[in-house]
Amino acid sequence: MNVLRIITLFLALAAASAGGPGPASAKDEIDCLLCHGEMIEGLQVHTAVSMGCPSCHVGIDAADVPHRITNSVKRGLLADQPELCFSCHDSKMFTNKFKHPALDMGCSSCHNPHGSKNARLLTTTVPELCFGCHDRGMFTRKVMHGPVSAGLCLQCHTPHSSRTDSLLLAEPVRICCLCHAQILSKPHLISGTAGKGHPLGAGKDHGEKRKIKDPARKGKRFTCASCHDPHSGDSPQMIRFPMQSSMDICGNCHSAR
Ligand code: HEC
Ligand code: HEC
Ligand code: HEC
Ligand code: HEC
Ligand code: HEC
Ligand code: HEC
Ligand code: HEC
Ligand code: HEC
Ligand code: HEC
Repeated sequence: MNVLRIITLFLALAAASAGGPGPASAKDEIDCLLCHGEMIEGLQVHTAVSMGCPSCHVGIDAADVPHRITNSVKRGLLADQPELCFSCHDSKMFTNKFKHPALDMGCSSCHNPHGSKNARLLTTTVPELCFGCHDRGMFTRKVMHGPVSAGLCLQCHTPHSSRTDSLLLAEPVRICCLCHAQILSKPHLISGTAGKGHPLGAGKDHGEKRKIKDPARKGKRFTCASCHDPHSGDSPQMIRFPMQSSMDICGNCHSAR
């Protein structure tokens, strides 16, 4: 949060309502809600709106309708998104290495800047919010993964930006093992030499090389998600490859020599 900007705005607001020597724009402010009240009525209101409409709409002269826009930004805003939002919100959360392309479509593609009936000012709740842009079919095949059918996309993903690819909250194998810890402690898929089972892309947690390439998917790392679709699939274990028995899948990554 840009605490300084917020404190300054609150001080101006307090001065204006006390009739004190606040900035003229706040003191003589037209009551925007006389005409725009329905915009926030009965909703959870963005704290920025409680600080006054001009905390974002700096360039509106509302003496007449239609209003005069006195600056060069659409709707008389302080700046375009996301800079408008970054004037109060720390940009760190949005600028990690892997950014959600949805950010380029504007924060208001997911948040209502004024108020909403949903928590976090969301335009709709998760997962419906996500299905607005992502094909629902990918998540609703015959067998749905527990957290996906419960709509818990945010158990694994951040909506903004991440240090890990695919907007994951942590390294993929680590995420899976938060709920499936037992997989690392017993042989998986094959018994293997020394009873260690098949490599799992878990790095040193599982006595493996740090990062292994996925032989079946170019440009991807080898992880649990190389064999399991993390969202949904056609087999009980959501295996990405057609199979009658698990031995059927080996050839997708290992050529018979
Ligand atoms: C007398 C009623 C009235 C008051 C008071 C009023 N507005 Fe409006 N406002 C309107 C109407 C009606 C429109 C739609 C007019 C249009 O679309 O041209 C509008 C449109 C707007 C828009 C959209 C402009 C655009 O470019 O699309 C913004 C932003 C806005 N008002 C902000 C404010 C702010 C901020 C205040 C207080 C400083 C305010 N209004 C006070 C009636 C009012
Ligand atoms: C946090 C910043 C912020 C505050 C505070 C804010 N607005 Fe807005 N407002 C926006 C943004 C951003 C848009 C453009 C939304 C878009 O284009 O998707 C907008 C658009 C509008 C519009 C155009 C219609 C619409 O809903 O898109 C009106 C009218 C409006 N604001 C009025 C107001 C009034 C009245 C207040 C005070 C009660 C206010 N705004 C406070 C950011 C803000
Ligand atoms: C004038 C300062 C200001 C601006 C500009 C601003 N915000 Fe905020 N916003 C706040 C404050 C203050 C809070 C409440 C403190 C908090 O939750 O951290 C808040 C809270 C939020 C929340 C959390 C709401 C909740 O219920 O937890 C969201 C989401 C949000 N803002 C989105 C936005 C977006 C999107 C923009 C740009 C369109 C924006 N903000 C611009 C000041 C601002
Ligand atoms: C793809 C949709 C989407 C976009 C685009 C988006 N957000 Fe969010 N945002 C969310 C969701 C979902 C949450 C709720 C996260 C949670 O509950 O853990 C959230 C939470 C927040 C919060 C509350 C803080 C927190 O971590 O709980 C703020 C502030 C916020 N967003 C601001 C922004 C700003 C600013 C932008 C634009 C730079 C933006 N968001 C773009 C979906 C989005
Ligand atoms: C406004 C549109 C929009 C919304 C809403 C949206 N996304 Fe996205 N998302 C995109 C676009 C565009 C891409 C890039 C193209 C693609 O992969 O489909 C993307 C990509 C992604 C990626 C892949 C990123 C990568 O590095 O490969 C993930 C994960 C993702 N979104 C998760 C979510 C989640 C979770 C939600 C709901 C909280 C959500 N999205 C809501 C537009 C959106
Ligand atoms: C159990 C953890 C988990 C949950 C829950 C989850 N995802 Fe994912 N998601 C992943 C992983 C892991 C990947 C990366 C898969 C890979 O390596 O290709 C991914 C990739 C994606 C992608 C990128 C496209 C692709 O297939 O690579 C999108 C978009 C996406 N998820 C959206 C969502 C949405 C929307 C939800 C909620 C309906 C959701 N995810 C729930 C773990 C999860
Ligand atoms: C938030 C907790 C959570 C996370 C994180 C999670 N899972 Fe799951 N997973 C579940 C639940 C709950 C079930 C359903 C268990 C049941 O029906 O017995 C399940 C079921 C499965 C199944 C089917 C199990 C069976 O017995 O048929 C597989 C395979 C699976 N998960 C793989 C993964 C992979 C791969 C990841 C990482 C991308 C992952 N899970 C991350 C909670 C989680
Ligand atoms: C090389 C492919 C492959 C990899 C990598 C892989 N799995 Fe599996 N997994 C399978 C197959 C095939 C099955 C079903 C047949 C079986 O049990 O042998 C399975 C079964 C499962 C099951 C259900 C049965 C059980 O043992 O509980 C879970 C849960 C599971 N995997 C989770 C994971 C997790 C978590 C990871 C990453 C740490 C992972 N898998 C990595 C191929 C793989
Ligand atoms: C999604 C791709 C994929 C599938 C499917 C797959 N493997 Fe692997 N397998 C790998 C990768 C990647 C490695 C590690 C290579 C490395 O270390 O560079 C590996 C390693 C191995 C090893 C060497 C183990 C070790 O400790 O070094 C054996 C044996 C093996 N796989 C057998 C199988 C068998 C049997 C199946 C079918 C039941 C199978 N694999 C299915 C990708 C796969």
